Amino acid sequence: MSFVRFLGTGSAAPEKVLANADLEKIVDTSDEWIQTRTGIRERRIAEPGTATSDIAYDACVRALESASVDPVDLDAIIVGTVTPDYLFPSTACLLQSRLGARHIMAFDLLAGCSGFMYALQAGKGIIDGGNAKKVLVVGAETLSTIMDFEDRSTCILFGDGAGAVVLSKSDTPGIMSITTGANGSQWELLYMPGGGSRVPASEESIRNRSHFLKMAGQEVFKEAVKAIESSSLEAIRLADLTPDDIDLFIPHQANYRILEAVRKRIGLPSEKVFSNLDRYGNTSSASVPIALDEAVRSGRVKKDDKILISVFGAGFTWGAAVVNW
Ligand code: ACO
Repeated sequence: MSFVRFLGTGSAAPEKVLANADLEKIVDTSDEWIQTRTGIRERRIAEPGTATSDIAYDACVRALESASVDPVDLDAIIVGTVTPDYLFPSTACLLQSRLGARHIMAFDLLAGCSGFMYALQAGKGIIDGGNAKKVLVVGAETLSTIMDFEDRSTCILFGDGAGAVVLSKSDTPGIMSITTGANGSQWELLYMPGGGSRVPASEESIRNRSHFLKMAGQEVFKEAVKAIESSSLEAIRLADLTPDDIDLFIPHQANYRILEAVRKRIGLPSEKVFSNLDRYGNTSSASVPIALDEAVRSGRVKKDDKILISVFGAGFTWGAAVVNW
């Protein structure tokens, strides 16, 4: 039998730190409010001129190094992002060239904050279908470029960063299960109005602040808890396991209250949950691969551990996977 395994992980983030105290000088907020409501202490912010592919490139180099894979041995590159360098060409194409990969398949995939999980499923499918042996899967964002720093309800939540993994065809089990889903009926609860074909860039769209992320936080919160719980339980079931078998849970790093609610509903002890939310905020598609990389590099993940990862994002979209490490 053939399986799909993670060969290596990598992550990167801009050096500049924006602490809650810095945000106090920009909007009417407080370190105390942000920490109590979200668990976030600081986030990384790219310097002007730094784009998503710049951060992603560093994460990819680290993932390829940890996997001991040469870029010329890659068969596909898939990037999950809501903040590509350009609407086209794709950020994946920019990475293909910059990494020195062969003229392989390279594409971006837009699934809100669930982009990494969708990309993982696509990468696994390409390997399962016999069309690739090694796939670079990336989640990368420069969310600061679509933040409205006059909107205190959103600008405190998000940060910039990138994570990458190298997937490989394998004789031993790796990804034991993966599930994704979407429900577009409530898309307006989390979206960016401007810049697409519905509201192209114009003086009016800029005046209306249409090129910034809009979110109805409370509604998103409720949907996130429900979807992360149900997709996580589904991934555990598909892997033929029970929650007790999970060694480490790495959920989408959106808000510690969401993490806590989901943890309790799934029935996992807090020591089995990995979180770096306090240092990065919500980095959308990059959130799970950054956390996974930090968990691996800090020794929290051991061989044959069963890792549960789960995501939720705009769309709404969601997904979860169980990985035998
Ligand atoms: N500082 C101080 N006060 C604030 C701030 C702020 N930064 N933001 C909002 N408030 C105020 C509000 O105006 C409101 O004041 P009022 O009572 O006088 O009207 C009060 O705080 C409470 O606001 P709520 O929106 O009810 O606060 P809540 O407890 O719901 O927290 C939050 C808001 C943090 C946004 C929460 O709803 C949340 O985390 N939602 C999920 C968001 C999320 O994770 N989205 C991403 C998931 S998908 C993805 O990753 C893209």
